[in-house]
Amino acid sequence: MFPRLYICSFQSPFASTIYTSLYRLHIIFIIMFFSIMSGGSMHSGLVGLVCLAIASAICCSSVGSSNNIMCLESERHALLQFKQGLVDESSALDSWKGEKDCCKWRGIACNNQTGHVITLDLSYSYYHSIKRRGEISPSLLELRYLNYLDLSYNDFGGMIIPKFIGSLSQLKELKLADANFSGPIPPQLGNLSNLHTLDLYHNQVVSPENLEWLSHLSSLRYLNMSYLDLSKVVNWPQSLSKLTSLTELQLSWCELPDVNLRSLPFINSSTSLQLLDLSGNSLNSSIFYWIANVSSNFVHIDLSWNKLEGGIPKGIQNLCSLESLTLWSNQLSENFEDSVKTLSCAENTLETVDLGFNQFWGSLPDLKRFFKLRKLYLSNNQLNGSVPKSVGQLSSLESLYLRGNSLSGVITEAHFLNLSRLQYLSLSGNRFSINLSSDWNPPFQLLRLDMSSCKMGPAFPKWILTQTDLTDLYLSNAGLSGKLPNLSSTSLFTLNLSSNLFSGALPSFSPMLQRLYLSNNRFSGHLSSLCATQSPYWMYLDISKNLLSGELPNCWMQFQSLYSLNLGKNKLSGKIPSSLGSLQGIGILRLHDNNFSGELPSLENCTGLLMVDLGNNNLSGKIPTWIDQSLKNLVILRLRSNEFNGIIPFSLCSLAAIHVLDLSHNSISGGLPHCFNNITSLPTNTGVGENVELVWKGIEREFPNLIGMRSIDISSNYLIGEIPPSIASMTELKSLNLSRNKLTGKLPEDFGNMKMLESLDLSRNRISGKIPSSFASLNFLSVLDLSHNNLSGRIPSGTQLQGFNASQYMGNRGLCGPPLTQSCPGEGTEIDNKEHDNDGLISLGFFISVVLGFVTGFWMVCGSLLLKTSWRYAYFRFLDNAKDWIYVKTAVYKAKLQR
Ligand SMILES: *[C@@H]1O[C@H](CO)[C@@H](O)[C@H](O)[C@H]1NC(C)=O
Ligand SMILES: *[C@@H]1O[C@H](CO)[C@@H](O)[C@H](O)[C@H]1NC(C)=O
Ligand SMILES: *[C@@H]1O[C@H](CO)[C@@H](O)[C@H](O)[C@H]1NC(C)=O
Ligand SMILES: *[C@@H]1O[C@H](CO)[C@@H](O)[C@H](O)[C@H]1NC(C)=O
Ligand SMILES: *[C@@H]1O[C@H](CO)[C@@H](O)[C@H](O)[C@H]1NC(C)=O
Ligand SMILES: *[C@@H]1O[C@H](CO)[C@@H](O)[C@H](O)[C@H]1NC(C)=O
Ligand SMILES: *[C@@H]1O[C@H](CO)[C@@H](O)[C@H](O)[C@H]1NC(C)=O
Ligand SMILES: *[C@@H]1O[C@H](CO)[C@@H](O)[C@H](O)[C@H]1NC(C)=O
Repeated sequence: MFPRLYICSFQSPFASTIYTSLYRLHIIFIIMFFSIMSGGSMHSGLVGLVCLAIASAICCSSVGSSNNIMCLESERHALLQFKQGLVDESSALDSWKGEKDCCKWRGIACNNQTGHVITLDLSYSYYHSIKRRGEISPSLLELRYLNYLDLSYNDFGGMIIPKFIGSLSQLKELKLADANFSGPIPPQLGNLSNLHTLDLYHNQVVSPENLEWLSHLSSLRYLNMSYLDLSKVVNWPQSLSKLTSLTELQLSWCELPDVNLRSLPFINSSTSLQLLDLSGNSLNSSIFYWIANVSSNFVHIDLSWNKLEGGIPKGIQNLCSLESLTLWSNQLSENFEDSVKTLSCAENTLETVDLGFNQFWGSLPDLKRFFKLRKLYLSNNQLNGSVPKSVGQLSSLESLYLRGNSLSGVITEAHFLNLSRLQYLSLSGNRFSINLSSDWNPPFQLLRLDMSSCKMGPAFPKWILTQTDLTDLYLSNAGLSGKLPNLSSTSLFTLNLSSNLFSGALPSFSPMLQRLYLSNNRFSGHLSSLCATQSPYWMYLDISKNLLSGELPNCWMQFQSLYSLNLGKNKLSGKIPSSLGSLQGIGILRLHDNNFSGELPSLENCTGLLMVDLGNNNLSGKIPTWIDQSLKNLVILRLRSNEFNGIIPFSLCSLAAIHVLDLSHNSISGGLPHCFNNITSLPTNTGVGENVELVWKGIEREFPNLIGMRSIDISSNYLIGEIPPSIASMTELKSLNLSRNKLTGKLPEDFGNMKMLESLDLSRNRISGKIPSSFASLNFLSVLDLSHNNLSGRIPSGTQLQGFNASQYMGNRGLCGPPLTQSCPGEGTEIDNKEHDNDGLISLGFFISVVLGFVTGFWMVCGSLLLKTSWRYAYFRFLDNAKDWIYVKTAVYKAKLQR
């Protein structure tokens, strides 16, 4: 019997791929093995028979279903040639090697009567992570009967779509989506008169002037040119109207030119369009006219991300088969009840209505006649009034988004009466009161619930615990208080309960939890229970602004997914545990405003850190030196108000991305490092979406983001030595505070290179010498404090420097000149001439030359006519933060000329 099986397998000339042949052989050998093993037993015959039956079935079933048609040699050759042009690192085309019959190759199908290759499908599949590259050989022309060609999702390196594809005249489907083609689309594609599917989605082609070639494709049913540049095709509406067989048209994000379709010549066409996606094109409302004329068969319309204004035009009311209407993110503004009337004809068909992020106003009408409605998105509009109870009759409803309107009233169980399919419910950002009894048994199982800023309290609503599928729960700012129930048996991924009044210890959470936001509550007690929590997926943990106390547990290694940890503003104490240093993926670490003490653990392996905020604790020890190698991405380092000592390590200069460096109020000694020129790049993208507290122009403020912020604050330490000249290379710096140290020496000459400085505080040091004249170019400076140093000489004249209060220069015995009343030696009268004009363009050098060039007598006569400083000083102080300084200066100059 074994020889027979063997023969069966090998006799078959139709064994398909090498793989399956080997697979079958394999089975046969297993069968042989078992048969031999059971050879001596009573049952050997039976076992053998069963094995035979199975093997025959496997072996011969495929033989039966194949037939004798084999691929043509010429086409096989053409395919091999085509393959040679490709770089196939994924080895997906290995089946093209051994097998003789090319009809059995991967991606190939032949006509089962004639054997001609009719299908070539080499679209990249996600099983093979390496995209195919290379060239497309014209040998494809040999495949004269090809009617399906799919090369999508490969990477053809920006080559032009080959013209010869237009000669594959039998093609019915051509798919070249996202395959990195560029250049012009060859008009030869217009020769493919049998084409019914054309997919050119997402290639880098240059915009054609027109789509004339397209209008020849009279059989076209499906057209996708989304993400192609069509910005020059002014007559696209006319061209597309000619495709009368078209049922699906996708032209999203094509930069379609915004033509006024109301003034176009009359379009008399009736296409069979059912699906239209023109999202993301900056189109105006006249597109509705085209839509209304081009087809009345529409089932799906997507015009989101355009510039539609006004209401939904009446023309739309003839669309009686509409199932989905997506107008998200436009500027539509209409009484919502009127919009609903326009959609009346589709009341038996509409399933999805997405009007979010527009300006629809008025109240929500009764919608129950739209009984098929599954998705209703009305977020971020201007709807007001209450929600009619009839919404509870929409028994097909799966998603209800009303977030961010001005709706009000009481939400009751009646609103959800028949909503057994509801999965997504978003009511936040309105003025709802929620009146759902705690032991309510909802008809639905939600996946996502957002009732933030609804009035719910006071206790955590128990009915939420019946929602065992719930993954995202947002109940922040909802007036909830009391203890939080045990949530360990939920499936929550995201939980946001911030800004409530929850108290007591933290409960246990879902083991699936990834994001937990509990900030601004009254949770108390120790965090040691965290260690018992099995939450390996935690990424975001924010329990800031609570009453947590005690030491931090040392079990952070079990939260290896943690990206952001914020325990700021609690009453935590003790040492910062070393296991935090094992969180290699952590980006944000905030333990500020607690009572932590002792030295920092090493964070040398936390190389992804963007923000470290440990301000306002009692931490001590040296500023760690591991900063240099590890924290290259650090954007914010805030260690203010601790007891750090020692010197500033040189390594601080390798924080190339730093935007906020706050080491103030510590016991740091030694000099400033002479390497600030290494921090000059200060890239603009911060990547930190955190609120940051910052002393800005003398006032502590919370910044919602750090766009444009660059600040260094090392005030209130024991720094000695001089301010290194390299500091001037930080030309993007906006705020520098080195006050209350023991700095000596002179100010760097080119200090004025830091042209963006808005706030500079060097007060209470021992800095000596003159104020460099380059200070005059600090045009944006609006806060300056140089008081209590040993500065001397004239305050450079020009720009704002005279506009500051004299107190900002106070306590420098040698300083003179305005705004100080003390006059500089040899220029006694100048100070008294306050009522006289000064054109604001006189530089120190010019001034001195004037002094040297003219005799004192000249001054006594003419000086009073030339100089008038007082009003200008006031002017500049008034405009202290003005970025249009030059404008002002011009105005002053002009005024002077006119006099
Ligand atoms: C041959 O192909 C046609 C159309 O593709 C199909 O309907 C038919 O079932 C096939 N016949 C065999 C024997 O596979
Ligand atoms: C194909 O298209 C080109 C340009 O549109 C045209 O010049 C040529 O005659 C066409 N060829 C055939 C065979 O139709
Ligand atoms: C649409 O049709 C109406 C008449 O049905 C006509 O007045 C209007 O001009 C047409 N609009 C376009 C863009 O063809
Ligand atoms: C529009 O075209 C159809 C046939 O294509 C014709 O019957 C009808 O009269 C035309 N209508 C107008 C207003 O030109
Ligand atoms: C959590 O809720 C607060 C208050 O509504 C909100 O400010 C914050 O953005 C929410 N956080 C997330 C991640 O949703
Ligand atoms: C950092 O990683 C290295 C190499 O994995 C390891 O030897 C070292 O102990 C780690 N340091 C800390 C503080 O965890
Ligand atoms: C400063 O930059 C130079 C050149 O990029 C580099 O060699 C040097 O090590 C850097 N210094 C520090 C302290 O990072
Ligand atoms: C500089 O820091 C000191 C103390 O650290 C503070 O009092 C002062 O307001 C700060 N100056 C500015 C301009 O922020």
